[in-house]
Amino acid sequence: MIEKYQLNENSKVKHTIAVMSGKGGVGKSSVTSLLAVALMEQGMKVGIMDADITGPSIPKVFGLSGKRARGTEELIFPVETAKGIKVMSINLLIENDEDPVVWRGPVLSGIIKRFYSEVAWGELDVLLIDMPPGTGDVPLTVMQSVPVDGIVVISSPQDLVGLIVKKSINMANMLHTPILGLIENMAYLDCPDCGSQHHVFGKSKVPEVAAQHNLPVIASLPIDPKLAELSDEGKVELYGKINYTFGENFGSKVENMMAELKKKPVILPTF
Ligand SMILES: Nc1ncnc2c1ncn2[C@@H]1O[C@H](COP(=O)(O)OP(=O)(O)O)[C@@H](O)[C@H]1O
Ligand SMILES: [Mg+2]
Ligand SMILES: [Zn+2]
Repeated sequence: MIEKYQLNENSKVKHTIAVMSGKGGVGKSSVTSLLAVALMEQGMKVGIMDADITGPSIPKVFGLSGKRARGTEELIFPVETAKGIKVMSINLLIENDEDPVVWRGPVLSGIIKRFYSEVAWGELDVLLIDMPPGTGDVPLTVMQSVPVDGIVVISSPQDLVGLIVKKSINMANMLHTPILGLIENMAYLDCPDCGSQHHVFGKSKVPEVAAQHNLPVIASLPIDPKLAELSDEGKVELYGKINYTFGENFGSKVENMMAELKKKPVILPTF
């Protein structure tokens, strides 16, 4: 059994939620960001650990590109977004955040350990982890090493017959970590012309797969060019404000998700 990483004595985290996806490009980072904003708007103290070391995108969507995290010998201080979400990402530590990260597994795990153990997270209600995509070695190590109390799986309708989603579910089950539910991203398009919902990627398998595994679909998010645009501009925090219906609906869904998480038994690591 792999030993779990521990927080430093300056940090206290009530809940750690890993945001997973079977593959890249399904909107894992976008949804992590939206979750963080929704939780913060409910008065919680929120942090995001960008564990997708080879494809970090959290600083960019929050407009933190070019910012640098400060540190002492023992601690690294997270950078705060405009609204006070604490962020740690490799992009806040390297000189040029456009340099590709080419490190291999063991180095990546070492960085993730430092992000968990050496970052002065302070007191957080929720630490969200933007996981490396997929179910390979690196995400597996992160899941085994970080004390995670719930997983959210992001998927898109293109995920082949739910097979990719199933892999994520199997990995979580193997590690005995509860899955809080699935969030389906880019599920449909609210058509500006005819007002109806177009299922541009065909009928989604996500609800079916969720039902098969007895998991809730926490939310189904549409394709929204405005979300991509705001993320590009580093203003993802404003999305709920310009799309008020989204802000309201998603907020209450996230509230339910947290209520379910609090009901789950705490799983202590076994050694
Ligand atoms: N619901 C959505 N509507 C429109 N664009 C989206 C949506 N979700 C994600 N995107 C865009 O798709 C791209 C990939 O999303 P991202 O969150 O970076 O994926 P991942 O972290 O899974 O690789 C980004 O440019 C993002 O802005
Ligand atoms: Mg990403
Ligand atoms: Zn239409």
